[in-house]
Amino acid sequence: MLVAPSLLTADFLHLEKDVRVVDQNADLIHLDIMDGTLVPNISFGFPVVQGIASIATKPLDAHLMVVNPDKWFEKLKELGVSWVSFHYEASGCRTARFIRQAHKLGLKVGVALNPDVKISKVFKYVGKADFILVMSVFAGFGGQKFIYETIDRVSSLKAEIVRKGARTLIEVDGGVNPSNVKALAEAGADVVVGGSAVLGAEDPAAVIKALQEA
Ligand code: DX5
Ligand code: ZN
Repeated sequence: MLVAPSLLTADFLHLEKDVRVVDQNADLIHLDIMDGTLVPNISFGFPVVQGIASIATKPLDAHLMVVNPDKWFEKLKELGVSWVSFHYEASGCRTARFIRQAHKLGLKVGVALNPDVKISKVFKYVGKADFILVMSVFAGFGGQKFIYETIDRVSSLKAEIVRKGARTLIEVDGGVNPSNVKALAEAGADVVVGGSAVLGAEDPAAVIKALQEA
């Protein structure tokens, strides 16, 4: 399993410390970017992304919880982001266009969806998007409880990927921890985000390792 710890629950007064721990141990660094409109919260913006990018050696995975996400693809690419995801709730019928735009810039692109959006809505992007970001909590806040129905959603998405023979990856985000990661791996997840379970732990490196081994 690839692990992309989220910095949303980092210690922002000592961000460098958390970035280094994640960078040394994980596979990707997950950056939760919110606009207060698509989701009821605001996180951080470009100066913070730039600071993180200046010391990161692992790929940066920007999760855009914003309206009109395509506005920011170019800027994120310039800052050194290599994976970008946007929400289907924000893109709707513009989804295929946004995927093409991100690909033109050389980004890996993912389509994200909240737990109340039917998983079959994104089936047509399997084989087009590089990954589907299945939310296992409602986007907006770290530290929420994992929604168990996500396991079935991942299984049916995986079945569609297999049916099409596509290379699209499944990333799962929200409330992931060492006790539910195994079920996610069995259902077909390829990447998990870990926020509070990782940076809230006494030994983040050990939690990252436990998630990777699932
Ligand atoms: C929620 C974010 C997640 C989240 C992960 O809007 O997209 O990345 O912060 O944190 P935990 O693992 O604490 O749910
Ligand atoms: Zn996220």
